[in-house]
Amino acid sequence: MPSYGLIGGTGLGKLLKKAKERRRKTPYGPVDFYEGAINDETVFFIARHGKKHQFPPHKIPYRANIWLLYKLGVERVMALNAVGAINQEISPGDIVVPHDFVDFTKQRPLTFYDAPPVTHIDVSVPYCPEVRDAILRAARRCGERTWEKAVMACTEGPRYETPAEVRMISISGCDVVGMTGIPEAPLARELGMCYATLCFVSNAAAGLQKRLTASEVIRMADEKLPKIREIVVKTIDLIPKNRKCLCKSALEGARVC
Ligand code: HPA
Repeated sequence: MPSYGLIGGTGLGKLLKKAKERRRKTPYGPVDFYEGAINDETVFFIARHGKKHQFPPHKIPYRANIWLLYKLGVERVMALNAVGAINQEISPGDIVVPHDFVDFTKQRPLTFYDAPPVTHIDVSVPYCPEVRDAILRAARRCGERTWEKAVMACTEGPRYETPAEVRMISISGCDVVGMTGIPEAPLARELGMCYATLCFVSNAAAGLQKRLTASEVIRMADEKLPKIREIVVKTIDLIPKNRKCLCKSALEGARVC
């Protein structure tokens, strides 16, 4: 049976109850993760920043995490990201399920395909439509204010953005900003896995509120955790068992020779 992957961000390391702790080696380094179950489905959970929150956003072992899930037989990945709101209609506490992203990162390993065959995957539909749809329906059933059309900007961090950067990102058409959505999403696509993300808005972006602190983001995540857990449980239930999306054929026609 294919299983599910769950990748949690800041403040979301305590998501799976009664899960077994595991550690596995990958060609990209070791990964600590949890094995548990939701609705009788096997779920592998990775706390993106590490068990002790030791990885800053630009040092997260993204390739190791995604490779591990692939090797564990995961077909569907649901990610959780804390984000700041750039679009001023979006408020702290809202749920956003991005349909697209803009990559403002600068120095992260971006691909599994550094060597031949040169591989260009298609991201015309950047997030899995089936997983997105399940997250959206789950969030609405849980009574959350939920945005279904939104572009996520991913910045390098670890500092937050300047107000001028936020204006630039806004002009680029982005609605929310975080530091960890990329390269996770394209890496999952490179291995033919479905991937979509549930973003919860922890703050208004820099310059749109007085001050921005990491402790505020953690506090919001703590407050939102029970609701996020509820949405995750419902999402796993709503994801169709058989994949009809195109994610699994991501490598068809992607290679130059
Ligand atoms: N910017 C970048 N990353 C974030 C933010 C933000 O405003 N809020 C939570 N993660």
